[in-house]
Amino acid sequence: MIRLNYNVTQNSLMQKRRFNPNKHRKLSEIVTDFAVSSGLERISTGDVTRNLKALLSKDLGFHDAPVNNGKHNFHSFPAKFPPQLPRLFIENLTYPGELVLDPMSGSGTTIVEALSAGRLGLGFDIDPLALLIGKVKSTPLNPASVELEARRVVQAAELSLMHRLKIEKELEKKFDPQTKKFIDYWFTDETQIELIALLLQIEKVEDPDIKDFLKLAFSAIIVTKSGGVSLAWDLGHTRPHRLNQGKSKKYKAAIPEFERRAIRNIESLVDDNPSIGEGRVQFGNAENLPLDEESVDLIITSPPYASNAIDYMRAHKFSLVWLGMEVNNLTALRSTYIGSDKVTGYKFETLPSLTQEIISRIAALDAKKGFVLRRYFSEMTRVLKEMQRVLKPGKVAIVVVGSSVMRGIDTETDRCLAEIGESLNFPCAGIGLRLLDRDRRMMPTSTKSRADSQIENRMHREFVLAFLKLN
Ligand SMILES: C[S@@+](CC[C@H](N)C(=O)[O-])C[C@H]1O[C@@H](n2cnc3c(N)ncnc32)[C@H](O)[C@@H]1O
Repeated sequence: MIRLNYNVTQNSLMQKRRFNPNKHRKLSEIVTDFAVSSGLERISTGDVTRNLKALLSKDLGFHDAPVNNGKHNFHSFPAKFPPQLPRLFIENLTYPGELVLDPMSGSGTTIVEALSAGRLGLGFDIDPLALLIGKVKSTPLNPASVELEARRVVQAAELSLMHRLKIEKELEKKFDPQTKKFIDYWFTDETQIELIALLLQIEKVEDPDIKDFLKLAFSAIIVTKSGGVSLAWDLGHTRPHRLNQGKSKKYKAAIPEFERRAIRNIESLVDDNPSIGEGRVQFGNAENLPLDEESVDLIITSPPYASNAIDYMRAHKFSLVWLGMEVNNLTALRSTYIGSDKVTGYKFETLPSLTQEIISRIAALDAKKGFVLRRYFSEMTRVLKEMQRVLKPGKVAIVVVGSSVMRGIDTETDRCLAEIGESLNFPCAGIGLRLLDRDRRMMPTSTKSRADSQIENRMHREFVLAFLKLN
């Protein structure tokens, strides 16, 4: 087994990173406390605008920039930020102690960066796996205690394999028929046995934070670009495909995979910056946040792409079914995500002219797709309104978006969102560009060879929009 060297003692780590007693109070109260307690001079709106222009003209790609905090690699996640992106805006647009919000926090990159910069980071998401990732990344833990539990889980799981019949019985009881069908299709019998053996031991961990940490390591051996210990070979880029004659994949035993992953993640716990920052991620809909108005100092977020271009649930259900969720419920949940393609019974907003024109062009070719895009821009209208509501006057929302192609037409998401912001009196003060390294970010790739086309080039970019809440 691998041994870890800690240069931070249990006490020093826990003392420096202990959450304050606000933990169990209402978020709105915490927000107010932080705004008051920072006690620092506010940055003026003029300064913010000048600052923004300089920041947006920088190279926002951050390719090959070293990852400063191993927590960012706890678990794969499609289209996550390079940590340097939120960090740049956090350091330049807020003071220590101020509140940074990500209302669609995904893998929690903004939150980790906010708290390691000594800010209060608050994240919301509706995806159960995103919530687990965000929670684990923003919870300070003592590496030695986690390691002890990880070792116990691995040893006990290995030992329990000697009583295979017992494990098989547990496997039979655990899932409803639809979920079991899904599992039988995507996991070999042997892998199922090993995974359930691990889970049974993880469930015995008493400390809920350590338990979640180990659940996340468990999930991380399933949800990877190459499908981890499942039979899928391409969870990252496209619709997952099961291994067949044409493809081969090296069998990976789940328990040693888990051990390696847990140890790697535990090593990253010592990267924790013992600063004053606090982070929290919880369930919440970006269209209707449980926050007071004018309570937030900076928003940094990236919404899903239009038209379900990145289908989070498609990959996430591979581990969520093991973590207690039923496959049918997950399918229903998927249709509630921003950018989903379910449009019946949907509440649409009135949209401004360019946005409406793009929708109409797509609708002329494909009526259903027109509705899907209308749904997306309606959702984003409500998200922008909500971000405007919770921001303090003179403060900024950084929104990172990419375009989608529907029926060969560019959705021009950047221009449309800027137009929608304008219509809400929430103007876009500037747009920066970032070139994507799509392979690394687990982004969907085009199967057609259109490397020269203008649209394909735009698909390799993201736009960094800065919306300004007017005084
Ligand atoms: C592009 S990802 C965010 C990635 C994030 N920036 C990171 O670095 O990991 C978009 C996220 O929006 C979430 N989402 C979708 N609909 C939502 C809603 N109505 N409210 C909150 N989050 C939502 C998805 O679950 C997904 O995690």
